[in-house]
Amino acid sequence: MSAQKSIKLSDYTEYPYLIPSIYLDFDIGDEYVVVQSSMIIKPKQKVSSKLILQGNQIKLLSISINGKELKLEEYSISDESLIIDTPPVSEFQLKIRSQIDPFSNTSLEGLYLSSGMLTTQCEAEGFRSICYHPDRPDILSRYTVRIEADRELYPVLLSNGNEKNSGNLKNNQRRHEIIWEDPFPKPCYLFALVAGKLNSVSDIYFTNTGRSIDIKIYVEPGDEKYTKHAVISLKKAMKWDEDNYGLEYDLDEYKIVAVRHFNMGAMENKGLNIFNSKLVLADSKTATDDELERIESVIAHEYFHNWTGNRITCRDWFQLSLKEGLTVFRDQSFTSDLHSAGLKRIEDVSFLRNFQFAEDKSPTSHAVKPKEYIDIDNFYTTTIYEKGAELIRMLQLLLGKEKFFKGINLYIKTFDGSAATTEDFINSLIKGAYLEEINCPFDLTKFLNWYYKAGTPKVYISQSWDSKNSILNVSFEQKIDCDTTNKNIEMVIPILYSCYSRKKGSIPIAEDNLFVLDKNKMSLQIKTPPGEKEAPVLSLFRGFSSPVLWESDLTIDDYLYLFLNDNDYFSRWDSGQYLMREIIRTRLFNKANQSLEDRFISAIKQSINSLEINDPFFLATLLTIPGFAELESLLNKVDPINIYRESLKFQILIGNEILQQLRILAKNLFVKVGHEWPMGKGERKLLGIAWSYLTLAGDKNVQKTCVESISHYSMTISRTALSALKPLDNVNTEKASNLFYNLWKDNPVVLDSWFAYEASRPNKQGIDGIEKLLSHSKFDWKAPNSIRAVLGGFSKNIELFHSLDGEGYLFMAEKLIQVDKINPITASRMVKIFSKWKTYVEKNKEGMYKSILKLNQANISSNTREVVELILK
Ligand code: BES
Ligand code: ZN
Repeated sequence: MSAQKSIKLSDYTEYPYLIPSIYLDFDIGDEYVVVQSSMIIKPKQKVSSKLILQGNQIKLLSISINGKELKLEEYSISDESLIIDTPPVSEFQLKIRSQIDPFSNTSLEGLYLSSGMLTTQCEAEGFRSICYHPDRPDILSRYTVRIEADRELYPVLLSNGNEKNSGNLKNNQRRHEIIWEDPFPKPCYLFALVAGKLNSVSDIYFTNTGRSIDIKIYVEPGDEKYTKHAVISLKKAMKWDEDNYGLEYDLDEYKIVAVRHFNMGAMENKGLNIFNSKLVLADSKTATDDELERIESVIAHEYFHNWTGNRITCRDWFQLSLKEGLTVFRDQSFTSDLHSAGLKRIEDVSFLRNFQFAEDKSPTSHAVKPKEYIDIDNFYTTTIYEKGAELIRMLQLLLGKEKFFKGINLYIKTFDGSAATTEDFINSLIKGAYLEEINCPFDLTKFLNWYYKAGTPKVYISQSWDSKNSILNVSFEQKIDCDTTNKNIEMVIPILYSCYSRKKGSIPIAEDNLFVLDKNKMSLQIKTPPGEKEAPVLSLFRGFSSPVLWESDLTIDDYLYLFLNDNDYFSRWDSGQYLMREIIRTRLFNKANQSLEDRFISAIKQSINSLEINDPFFLATLLTIPGFAELESLLNKVDPINIYRESLKFQILIGNEILQQLRILAKNLFVKVGHEWPMGKGERKLLGIAWSYLTLAGDKNVQKTCVESISHYSMTISRTALSALKPLDNVNTEKASNLFYNLWKDNPVVLDSWFAYEASRPNKQGIDGIEKLLSHSKFDWKAPNSIRAVLGGFSKNIELFHSLDGEGYLFMAEKLIQVDKINPITASRMVKIFSKWKTYVEKNKEGMYKSILKLNQANISSNTREVVELILK
């Protein structure tokens, strides 16, 4: 039994006070920081109620109300809170002086030190480690912040909003001060402060209305040269949000700080974003194409939060998807507009299937809007984010773009400056979309199930062909598989479909249509042009129109047809994925389906011929085998080592079968890869795929080319070469790895990719090799990036991590216990590595279980305990 207390959505009550303004004073010393807060507090009611403030590891120095020091009996203090029993019943000023120690804070939450600079992370509940405060997102205040520090140690002092004034202290020339003012009321989780030796790169953005915004990117000295991509991305995001959502930036300054020690990717603090340095510092020499695109989208994501998250925030953390799901949807749309919509969709679906679907099948499965949690940090999940984004996408599809944007406009107008709920969002979306007309085209109550129910719905489809009338009858049935109590739940499932006449090539005979499945069973009649003799080929869930699993009676012939002809990027790719999953699945049961494999390989050959030059990126995507988690999900009893080996064998087979074509491809492509991102990315991607298959097929020349390409001026090519050599575990792999290390040993961001590579590649050194990485002179225990590189990499080293003696699991558990002592947030996220234990074959299951028990018996943080207990359940 757990002694941990859970927070329930149903327990939400309004805070009895408003805090319209807060003045914060930071006096940064050598050993600690003195924080003085002065809050204007307004009771909402005339009756006095307790004033409860949260606090974590704060030393109280003094406390006063309206200038009068409180007596000891007028307040009480515990490890977690400060309570004033009978505060005044009308507006008052509460002043608290306290002291915190950021210098020994390794949790990377609250105020902490990273490479000599002080920085903050407050979302979700880190503000309470800075000063006593209610620390809940529905309290919005105007902040004024004064920072005082040593001029030499902390020449740059930053906080949210606009700079008011700054200068040296009159009585102490070695110290300086600055005052920042943020005119927009915000919740405390958006507060930020940075102090340190930083250099900045500036730029200007002109809004559509002609305002100029100062952009500043702050980095450690020497890193200025890597900021261009971030600046360009930010300007694109600013423009996109104005053009598409009519949303303009509101402050005069937009600052981004790159920080080495950071738990997440990036944080949207108002006017002062803080980024993990790996998501800022990049150019095509140091980052791959995928990383550049990721950075562009994360910069956009945090920028888009300025409206969806900051100007309109969450009432409580149960509403997290209100800002994260919506903002992920916005950043996905942004990338899709800037690059290829079809390819972006495939990437997003592939991610969703491999991570969110896997989460939904695991013990940590939860709804987009959970009903309770113990530690909110554990709920920044792919369900809240990516599934949340899918729900918005479905709404856009159901309403149509024009109405969707009308709805969004009304939502923003209505809730600007306040804290909202997901229901507020949906209601105003519908209201804005339909204004006077009342009829919403779908059942809203049923749609809301998407928010409230955990699990991935499954749709079963069967067809019958009425040749006399040229009508295809399709029947649908929906079920939620995961949650047994939800058996008869009806969801609103939008299904985009088309169909093709087998003889007429890739022009659909029924255009993209929308069918809304909102009952357990429904059927559809598709009229095809008269005279169609044969049943047409049905193309379903085009563009992946809803986040579901489906099973249909489509035949292998149908899939092969769609793989070669479907004009929807997603559906074409998905048909290939289906065929590959089938091939690997049958192989896993030791009975390869020869005819299916032959036909698939011949379809691949055809695709190479038809797509090679026109669409190299798409071709590369078609040739990529399904992700590991997707393969795992095909089986009731997962044998990870077997899956790994069989999928390698299948790739070796493909490599051998299309050897000649691949060689020609690789040769032609190698001379075309020199362009700067985004140009040339398709060629580079396809070259990478060709190299992977060729090295697996034993091509020695390609192996040599790969080793030589480690020093290529494009990081994409260099990393592509590394990956291609990875499964081989031979002298070339070793050589390439050493070359890469020597080239990049002084660049921590790039070196993390080497750590990940070393930890994840098959290697004779076994676990000793991983231990060596952890005690490597360049390994930094305090940097989550390093930890994720090595331990995350290790978890993908299938034969080592899943070794049958259970040593890999035990090693992981021991290391996570160690990480947990330093950084509970990072540890509790990584513990989910063990969440699939029940799905494994007996040997692995037992081993993993033992390791989870080990974690459970250790003295672990409450963050990690919550996840461990969930997994054990
Ligand atoms: N608000 C989050 C940052 C965050 C995450 C704070 C978890 C506290 C706990 C930010 O907007 C975010 O979502 N960042 C993502 C990247 C984004 C592009 C999905 C991240 O950090 O991974
Ligand atoms: Zn976010």
